[in-house]
Amino acid sequence: MVKSRGTEIAIGDRRPGCTLTQWLYEELRFAILSGRLKRGVRIPATRSIAVQYGISRRTVVAAFEQLLDEGYITSRTGHGTTVSRTLPSDFLPYRRPETPSKQRVGADILSRLQPPIRPFNPISPAVTEFPISLWARLASRRLRQLSATLLSGGDPAGYAPLREAIADYVGTSRGVNTRPEHVIVTTGMHHGLDLIARSIFKPGDQVWVEDPGYSGTTEVIQNAGLVPIAVPVDERGLIVSLGKEKAPNAKAAFVTPAHQFPLGSTMSLDRRLELLQWARATRAILIEDDYDSEFRFQGRPIPALQSLDRNGLVLLLGSFNKVLFPGLRFGYIIAPDSLLEPILRLRFQMDRYPPGPQQAILCDFINGGHFERHLRKMRELYAERWRSLRVNADRYLARHLSLPTIEAGLNTPAYLRTRLTSHQAELAATKLGIQTLGLDRFVRQRQDIRGLLLGFAAFNDQQIADGAKLLARALDGRR
Ligand SMILES: Cc1ncc(COP(=O)(O)O)c(C=O)c1O
Repeated sequence: MVKSRGTEIAIGDRRPGCTLTQWLYEELRFAILSGRLKRGVRIPATRSIAVQYGISRRTVVAAFEQLLDEGYITSRTGHGTTVSRTLPSDFLPYRRPETPSKQRVGADILSRLQPPIRPFNPISPAVTEFPISLWARLASRRLRQLSATLLSGGDPAGYAPLREAIADYVGTSRGVNTRPEHVIVTTGMHHGLDLIARSIFKPGDQVWVEDPGYSGTTEVIQNAGLVPIAVPVDERGLIVSLGKEKAPNAKAAFVTPAHQFPLGSTMSLDRRLELLQWARATRAILIEDDYDSEFRFQGRPIPALQSLDRNGLVLLLGSFNKVLFPGLRFGYIIAPDSLLEPILRLRFQMDRYPPGPQQAILCDFINGGHFERHLRKMRELYAERWRSLRVNADRYLARHLSLPTIEAGLNTPAYLRTRLTSHQAELAATKLGIQTLGLDRFVRQRQDIRGLLLGFAAFNDQQIADGAKLLARALDGRR
């Protein structure tokens, strides 16, 4: 064991034929790369390692020199030797992803879209625009005066003032009929979907999902043992009549009415009424995934499906993770009276209650008017970025892709005009370092949709123009 600031680092056995220097070098390098020796941490002196392992100090120095030369450790007189804050692997060029297997799932999507964010990452908001110093000020004020109640525990439904702020917000901005007692604070959309899927339904229950639709929703549903029934979507949203043909007695429908994922359409009023009528007749539950409807930059704000419900059949899910920043991990469920209890019971069994101090900071951000202000600013910015993508797509990508008119969100589908499949187009783009997702990732049974999902929210004019040129080159190579 090598001790580093009290942490013991296990050094593995020496392979036969491996020199002592090579062994020590490899073991320390592995400890650094695997994170067991953290960046910036002080490494014990060569002398103590030599004594501990009964090897000559010269051997240890030689291993250290190699690590120094390669940039894994740094040494400063008077400060000893520490693990470098920037490791050589940080500078490695963009690594080509392996050809994905046939079954491409959500976890794979996330690994593909991890930072650094580059055009046209479809799921990233413009995090650099978030007013971080304002947030830090609110946070430090709040943390300095945390109440005993916030320190001691919490309510499984969330911090009461935050629930009040959320109820006010969804009431005014989305026409939602609710009271604070109906708000459950979650860590986001996935958490909300999971709680609902596991507390309200039974394994084996059939539920409608949109085709194409969000793959994360299907994963959550399948994890809970429910059976997703793919119902096609057109420009007016879920085709309710087809759902009724395929599974008339399904227990639920999971829908994105404000901004269909990934096609970007808005569910029409007649379809909303038809869906509610089906739910009323069969006692099915409607789960409204309202993941990014705040970013409606054109047309009138669209009221939530929940606002039309008079029978307590709709669960509305919202998230702060796109509107503010994905690392925040806060969202909410607006649940009717009859469904609150099973959801809260499961919540309490899973993780008790959401983190109090962070909820209080978010609450201060909303109540101080900063949330509304940030939303207004981002809506304008995203509208500009969407226009920039349209102009650049017309200029550089017109031969390859056609973009529909969208009115909201952080991304747009771009339909292929050539013969490429979505998967081929995604691979070609990825090879040149463009981040995008083929629409095939979201298709369940449809054969008629070929294209890419392009995000614009996180990129300025120049990045969008450069990205469009690069994407054109990628798709040219595959024509
Ligand atoms: C349709 C849809 N629902 C839910 C989510 C995830 O939301 P959260 O990060 O709040 O779990 C996403 C994220 O891209 C999404 O596109």
